[in-house]
Amino acid sequence: MIIKSSLKEYEVSFSTHFSFVQQIESTENRFVIIDAKVNKLYGKYFNQIMAGPGMVFHSIERNKTVRKALEVAEAIMALPSKRNTTLISIGGGIVQDVTGFAASILYRGIKWIFVPTTLLAQTDSCIGSKTSLNHSGNKNLLGTFFPPNKIFIDVGFVSTLSKKDFLNGAGEIAKIAITRGEHGIGEIEQDLSLLLKKDAGKVLEWVQKSLEVKKKYVEEDEFDVGKRKLLNFGHTFGHALEKSSRYAVPHGQAVSIGMLIANNISEARGKISPEMNRRLQKIILPLITTKIRSDYFTDGYYDAIKKDKKRQGDSLPAILLCSDTNGYHLAEIHDLLETEIKCAVKTTVTLLREYPLRRQT
Ligand SMILES: NC(=O)c1ccc[n+]([C@@H]2O[C@H](COP(=O)([O-])OP(=O)(O)OC[C@H]3O[C@@H](n4cnc5c(N)ncnc54)[C@H](O)[C@@H]3O)[C@@H](O)[C@H]2O)c1
Ligand SMILES: [Zn+2]
Repeated sequence: MIIKSSLKEYEVSFSTHFSFVQQIESTENRFVIIDAKVNKLYGKYFNQIMAGPGMVFHSIERNKTVRKALEVAEAIMALPSKRNTTLISIGGGIVQDVTGFAASILYRGIKWIFVPTTLLAQTDSCIGSKTSLNHSGNKNLLGTFFPPNKIFIDVGFVSTLSKKDFLNGAGEIAKIAITRGEHGIGEIEQDLSLLLKKDAGKVLEWVQKSLEVKKKYVEEDEFDVGKRKLLNFGHTFGHALEKSSRYAVPHGQAVSIGMLIANNISEARGKISPEMNRRLQKIILPLITTKIRSDYFTDGYYDAIKKDKKRQGDSLPAILLCSDTNGYHLAEIHDLLETEIKCAVKTTVTLLREYPLRRQT
């Protein structure tokens, strides 16, 4: 799959049985950054490349900082190859964001290759050029647009993901499916149980399908000023929850909860029917395992929504699912009231509390 970017065209290659490692081994002047868990689990495949210069990275949101990105940049500056170095990043969305940012600022941009190892990174974040860092307690406040030169996807990595991390990726898959309206919603409804069993064929099918959809959005609106904003469905409410829970709720699950909140607003505004909302809840609720405490939704939560970088002026924007004569589609609204969010949050928290009980009956 080739992704067209105004910065460079880049290829996403699908590998099986870790055959991509050979291509990395033949890359000259490389500097490798690998996620600590991936290094532990898959180290035997990376013996040769890890013998050269590199760094093991602990993927936690608190490390998604400009300080860590500068550490990476400084380590490369110290190499004899300097600007001719190719940065090889192996890990999930956190490794991607830190290394992509470092690659973009160092010598105004060096070559980098990304090997996404989480479902979230394979299915969503690896394409689209964004590199984002957290700053002063806020999510993704600093960033650049800088795609890798090459991406290798091997869905073999997904087998070792924890349930929590698998569901993070499944949340972004559901989001991309919902952007396709009734058709996408029907497809994810049908495939969800096989996907959640980590069926290898289904995982590959949904990774490829999701990337094909995202590719269309990012090729049309790489810099996120128009249509691509729709892919932020669930994200304004999700980012605020990541912040208010001090990252106890991980990104993908926060986005799933954000989609539940958004859909409750849509239902309250009469933009989707209660039946459609129930259908979507049946898809999204099984993707959330993190315990939600009510103190995640105090004033700090609403302040985070107001401070979200996507806010324009005094109005609160949001991406909502709507229906009209053309069917279901996402749309950006700008007149969201805090009271509406509070009401939708209340309904969502009750839903999340009741869900495990309902699952048992
Ligand atoms: N740049 C973008 O376009 C973009 C898009 C979406 C999300 N993001 C960002 O991505 C981050 C979330 O990414 P993520 O969910 O990949 O999280 P992550 O990178 O933190 O990885 C999640 C966990 O999985 C572990 N892990 C990685 N690969 C593994 C494997 N194969 N087997 C077992 N464990 C493995 C990691 O060590 C970590 O503990 C968030 O910070 C989010 O903001 C960025
Ligand atoms: Zn996301």
